[in-house]
Amino acid sequence: MIEQTNFGSMPDGSQVTQFCLTNRLGVSVEILDLGGIIRRWLIPNHKQNHTDIVLGYDTVDEYLADDSYLGALVGRYANRIKHGKFSLAGKDYQTDINQGGNCLHGGGQGFNSKVWQCTVLSNSDNPSIMLELTSPDSDQGFPGQISVKVIYTLTEQNRLKIEYFATTDQTTLYNPTNHSYFNLAGHSSGSVANQQIQLLASHYTPTDENAIPTGEISVVDNTPFDFRTPTTINVPLASKHQQIEYANGLDHNLCLDAYTADLKSASYVGKAVAKQSGIELEVYTNMPGIQIFTANHFSNKKGKEDSLYQAHQGVCFETQFYPDTPNQPNFPSATLEAGKDFYSVTEYQVSF
Ligand code: GAL
Repeated sequence: MIEQTNFGSMPDGSQVTQFCLTNRLGVSVEILDLGGIIRRWLIPNHKQNHTDIVLGYDTVDEYLADDSYLGALVGRYANRIKHGKFSLAGKDYQTDINQGGNCLHGGGQGFNSKVWQCTVLSNSDNPSIMLELTSPDSDQGFPGQISVKVIYTLTEQNRLKIEYFATTDQTTLYNPTNHSYFNLAGHSSGSVANQQIQLLASHYTPTDENAIPTGEISVVDNTPFDFRTPTTINVPLASKHQQIEYANGLDHNLCLDAYTADLKSASYVGKAVAKQSGIELEVYTNMPGIQIFTANHFSNKKGKEDSLYQAHQGVCFETQFYPDTPNQPNFPSATLEAGKDFYSVTEYQVSF
């Protein structure tokens, strides 16, 4: 079932609509046509009415002022491009610079800030919506007009499937993700430090102090980035490793072992578990990397229902190409050629 409600308006007066997808087991995911934002994700719970497992806001204005990308679809290029500079098909490009001298998440007016065209694909079992957006040539400095589509489907097995499609009229970069901050004990329950994560990744990409990859692909052995067996998040957060100190916590790309080029279906890559709520989230994707980010800079950030979000109150599993890929020839390429179809898929499976 899908219920549509008015969520408010954009500065130009246009309406923002919320689509609430509910399956037969009573799991609901509320998605805005603004930025394709996952605003609430409600898991039935016999002790309370539900547990809302994602961080978010209550108003359009808060989403537009947000620089933390809560729940949003990110594009054209998730993560950082050093100094917003790259060369493609023999030409040099300069993108918008919006964070620390670099391009973050597609520039200052990225896909997260746009109202997408939304179509309901299924209103009964496996409720599903399609969001579409056209980004013109030179938008935020990126080449080519790109037409992108994201399909969200909530299955009857409590899996949220996110499929990304794109075509372009000129060779460009495309690296989309969803930037949900998960807290499986509930968005207002405090730190995720005592929750556990597992990631099937034997390598990671170390960064400099500005979160730009050095270009190395390093083994995770004997580092705080070895999540191959379930690990309490507090363990890396408490580490004195230089990479953790640079980021004030986890904000790193792990190289997923399951990845092979041209993989079209999602493989299991990891999970998160909260013993307090008994909720578990499994992550499946066909992308090569995952940015694991623990909301390191949050401090009294006003969130939904008067919550105040603090550092480490959520954890993101941003499935994507590695950061700064256009400047790192040894990383899997995020180039999308004219006439080629882009497809990627990420699935979040909830058990409770
Ligand atoms: C993450 C990024 C962080 C931070 C965050 C948005 O994806 O890795 O460094 O910028 O987005 O607040």
